[in-house]
Amino acid sequence: MTTTIHQGMPDHLWRPLTQHQILKGNTPNRIVSAKGCFLTDQNGNRMLDALAGLWCVNIGYGRREIGEVAARQMTELNYLAPVMTCGPVVDFAAKLQQLLGFDCHVYFSSSGSEANESAFKIARQYHLQAGNGGERRFKIISRYRAYHGATMGAMAATGQAERKIGYDPGPVGFIQIMPPYPYRGHPKLTIEEHGEQCAQQLEETILHEGAETVAAFIMEPVISGGGVLVPPDNYIPRVREICDRHGVLMIYDEVVSGFGRLGTMFGYERWKSEADIMTFAKGLGSGYVPVAATVVKDHIFEKFLSTPGNMQHFRQVNTYGGHPVAAAVSLKAIQIVEEERLAENASQVGEYTRIQIRQLLGDHPYVGEVRGIGMLTGVELVQDRQTKVPLPDAAMVGITTDCVRNGVLLGRNTNTVPGRNNVILIAPPLVLTRAEADQVVDTFAGAMKRALNK
Ligand SMILES: Cc1ncc(COP(=O)(O)O)c(C=O)c1O
Repeated sequence: MTTTIHQGMPDHLWRPLTQHQILKGNTPNRIVSAKGCFLTDQNGNRMLDALAGLWCVNIGYGRREIGEVAARQMTELNYLAPVMTCGPVVDFAAKLQQLLGFDCHVYFSSSGSEANESAFKIARQYHLQAGNGGERRFKIISRYRAYHGATMGAMAATGQAERKIGYDPGPVGFIQIMPPYPYRGHPKLTIEEHGEQCAQQLEETILHEGAETVAAFIMEPVISGGGVLVPPDNYIPRVREICDRHGVLMIYDEVVSGFGRLGTMFGYERWKSEADIMTFAKGLGSGYVPVAATVVKDHIFEKFLSTPGNMQHFRQVNTYGGHPVAAAVSLKAIQIVEEERLAENASQVGEYTRIQIRQLLGDHPYVGEVRGIGMLTGVELVQDRQTKVPLPDAAMVGITTDCVRNGVLLGRNTNTVPGRNNVILIAPPLVLTRAEADQVVDTFAGAMKRALNK
């Protein structure tokens, strides 16, 4: 039996992060198409998507050339078991190696969560096989506010308490420390001293846990969904030093920051410190295909080389990891990022966006801080600029809802830290023009006035 679902009628879709009670009798408009930075709904209304989906549609929506590549690959070779070998997947790994510029091997999967899960397993197995007393090195240190994914291990590494309520306990051995957060750092410390203090907290944690029990430290170069927290410039190089000193692997979660979003091809480039393992998703396929990668430096990969049969290979397979269509499409998406110099555009138009916000809202009594890098901007809203008490949820919802009503989709950090979901997030496609940035900023500034009466 088939059922026809009419528009406007209740549907059977369980939407993520949504309290369905409020949807009763109020089915949201359907989005039917998208082009560039704009979504169009069933009634023909256009909305500027200043979130690039979930920070992933880096090259913008509706690229015909991507559709052509996908169609060609689907008719030529739509799938191949990942234990076998085909051209697009080998080329895709080679392209990542070429862009990163160091010797590495690439393990593919299809989501950021899986890429991080793979990184944790690789880190643990590496220590076991590296002959440095690694049988006890299983702990993964991460940071509060960071999001690393929805699966059990990735959730355990996520430093957002509200994402764990009802799902804990997760796997053992996951520990969080505070990230640099200059806006809320000790007022007597300089920004560098704050960076140093946070790096020292990592070292203290490693020492208190026992360095011989710690497998890896995972961090986003800039915490994105957790509220756009840009570290002081001395922090990442110090973290690298500390990890090296204690034999702890360093993992960059570049799921958001990879492929241009921070104004460079990779987020870490600004700080020039390389990690041992890096994870990518989102911008890797620009939202055209579900794809993710765990890139492992060869000094780690080599510890997985051994006599067949002794269980030293990576014993994991993801059915859709190394998917030929995902590979062909991602290669094309990366080519577009390079040819259209989208990282450069992200840097320039992103900075322009922040300048405009500061100009229009810099003196607003509820604007605590405007921060960001590249096409990733956070605006922290507070009830009082002196006390920095966060703006409550209802007011935040009022602002984002008003923006949507006026044709701009903005985000905010939701379900992160209790009482601290007060950062407006702006992360548009990297093709955003200055005129489109003006539209985002004007709409946001208008919403601040209308929704807050200020
Ligand atoms: C930094 C970061 N890591 C990992 C993930 C998880 O990616 P996915 O949703 O593809 O599993 C996300 C998703 O938002 C993310 O922002």
